[in-house]
Amino acid sequence: MKYFMPVKVYDEDDAVKNHASEIASYGRKALIVTGRSSAEKCGALADVTDALQQNDTEWCVFSQVEENPSVETVMKARDFGLAEGADFVIGIGGGSPMDAAKAIALMMHHRDCGADRLYDASLSSEALPVIAVPTTCGTGSEVTGVSVLTRHEKQTKGSIPQRIFPEIALVDGKYLKAAPMSVITATALDALAHMMESALMKAGTDYSRMAVEQGLRVWARSLPVLEGKRDAAPVDFANLMRASTFAGIAIAQTGTSIPHALSYPVTYDMGLAHGRAAGYFLPGFLAEAPEKDREHLLSLAGFESLASFTEFVHRILADVHIPMNTLERGFHMVGSNAARMNGCIFDLDEAGLKRIIWGAAR
Ligand SMILES: [Fe+2]
Repeated sequence: MKYFMPVKVYDEDDAVKNHASEIASYGRKALIVTGRSSAEKCGALADVTDALQQNDTEWCVFSQVEENPSVETVMKARDFGLAEGADFVIGIGGGSPMDAAKAIALMMHHRDCGADRLYDASLSSEALPVIAVPTTCGTGSEVTGVSVLTRHEKQTKGSIPQRIFPEIALVDGKYLKAAPMSVITATALDALAHMMESALMKAGTDYSRMAVEQGLRVWARSLPVLEGKRDAAPVDFANLMRASTFAGIAIAQTGTSIPHALSYPVTYDMGLAHGRAAGYFLPGFLAEAPEKDREHLLSLAGFESLASFTEFVHRILADVHIPMNTLERGFHMVGSNAARMNGCIFDLDEAGLKRIIWGAAR
């Protein structure tokens, strides 16, 4: 049984400020990787640049990471970072900037390699140091080695084979305050999917379940906020962010399962937010799981039954309608992937996969 989680996590108020000199110690010049505006709006970018400035460390900013970053964006940022002479990478944002930061750090190390090497398993995982600052509560990318990129040539998303774990994760719930509620619920659904999928995979161990079980309890503390029953307090932002980190620790051990695999073509075709796309298939996935496991996971997450959970998901996804051809593409992609189909702790055949996909359709 293996447990590997090499990221130093600081989960606290003012995490960036409190660890400014450690952040700056990774190099002479940081390439800061962000999306277009959220890192600035939530204050994380200013916190990071203040930390670097105080320690006389230079930086440059690449702020063009789109949602579901492409291989092309990674290569553009790599060229920018190399031209600037950056020697470490700080990813600030949701999964997209953090995942991109890892792939950029990899390709900055392999400075002479072209984009074709990104999905080449023979390329070593050596990379420049990466520091991660999450600003949403879903991806868990701050504690995983995974970098998921959009592959236009395959019309889907996929993880690169290399594993690039950040050196430090600076987890501070206050960065969630600036996020719209729709982003908070979508990303919280992503974290929930990570935990439930991880728990229902053969790859799960007592170590990964340790992260799942406590993550679900922490997530459940702020469920009333996601249900719209009360406004979010600072402790809720901290809970949701922490649950997302626990979920990341779990999937760093096990990977993700069927709902995530089905979400990739959906996001590619429709641009549907990742957490919403994965969450769409979660009730159907749970319905296929053994009752004892399902009830245990749902009760830890604060739900009385599969019906109340399904209602919760349907409320969040009320406006989501996935076209039939996209669902069919997902069915063929996942159904023909033996590792995916055989990775669950329960038997899943084509009929079960159809129930997950079309049982969820409303
Ligand atoms: Fe996810």
